Amino acid sequence: MGKDILILAIESSCDETAAAVVKNGRTVLSNVISSQIALHTLYGGVVPEIASRKHIEKINQVIKQALLEAGTELKDIDAIGVTYGPGLVGALLVGVAQAKAISYACNKPLIGVHHIEGHVSANFIEHKDLKPPFLCLIVSGGHTHIVIVKDYGQYEIIGRTHDDAAGEAFDKVARAIGLGYPGGPKVDKLAKEGNKHAVSFPRANIAGSPYDFSFSGLKSAVLNHLNSCAMKGEEVNKADIAASFQEAVVDALVSKTMAAAKNYNMNQIAMAGGVASNSALRQAMDKACIEKGLKLYYPSPILCTDNAAMIGTAAYYEYLNGTRHGLDLNAVPNLKIGQR
Ligand code: KG4
Ligand code: ZN
Repeated sequence: MGKDILILAIESSCDETAAAVVKNGRTVLSNVISSQIALHTLYGGVVPEIASRKHIEKINQVIKQALLEAGTELKDIDAIGVTYGPGLVGALLVGVAQAKAISYACNKPLIGVHHIEGHVSANFIEHKDLKPPFLCLIVSGGHTHIVIVKDYGQYEIIGRTHDDAAGEAFDKVARAIGLGYPGGPKVDKLAKEGNKHAVSFPRANIAGSPYDFSFSGLKSAVLNHLNSCAMKGEEVNKADIAASFQEAVVDALVSKTMAAAKNYNMNQIAMAGGVASNSALRQAMDKACIEKGLKLYYPSPILCTDNAAMIGTAAYYEYLNGTRHGLDLNAVPNLKIGQR
């Protein structure tokens, strides 16, 4: 066994300022997250300018805390990993600038990480047995993809959304039924009290693209249902709407993932991103995978939503692959999966 590799990871792509220290890719020594959710709740969603300003206020203390909790100092760190896209440009720039400054001042290698590749890598932290190849359903606020993780850092996208991401649909429907931001966890909670068969919302199929998604029609169907109830003076049962909407999303996600697993002959499936912490999705995927004899992996909820530990894990495998970025690393708000 060689020397331990320690990565200091930084994440600031949206509304969490986060830093972590990760040992040999799979052992999290610290995972500090400073969430801005309470602040953005006031506005019903993330306000980019406020997010950037808060990141600047918090980032030094979050990094300090991560090093302290890990019992390490900057001199012990082997490389700095940082999310450089996709995300809000102003928010990303705070993390990228900080990582570059540390890299330059301490003469440590700099590794830019794709945020979504970080989400996928969160699965490696708690599942020491998980190794590529596997199929991954990525469901976050901005992305809905089915990918084949061919090897560490090697992805083939086989399915994607044509419009809204799954998390975005949760957030928009939550707003429509008056639950506020962030919508996903609130819909998840309320749906437990509702009847998922109360309203039959549509499931979109895209001709010729069996693994692609579309959620904007579903979102419109929910809005139309709410409007038509209002016009008729009928009271809506919010829990039933939440449960029926969630059922339609879960149904689409599970059926397409299972079809992809079958056609691509994959017997390991992982889930990643904020929506992967949805309780109905976990239950339905558990059931489907047991029925088909497939092994299913998903991270604990705290590692599903934005955090820096997942960025540290992804950075570790990039480090082993020889990826190094220069001080000209920039934030790339629409960075593509697999782009280096
Ligand atoms: O991965 P993430 O933390 O940030 C992005 O990279 O986008 O995902 C955030 C998204 C939000 O849309 C949030 O509403 C959704 O994940 N989410 C959930 C749940 N927890 C978070 N959606 C459904 N059920 C949940 N329990
Ligand atoms: Zn994320």
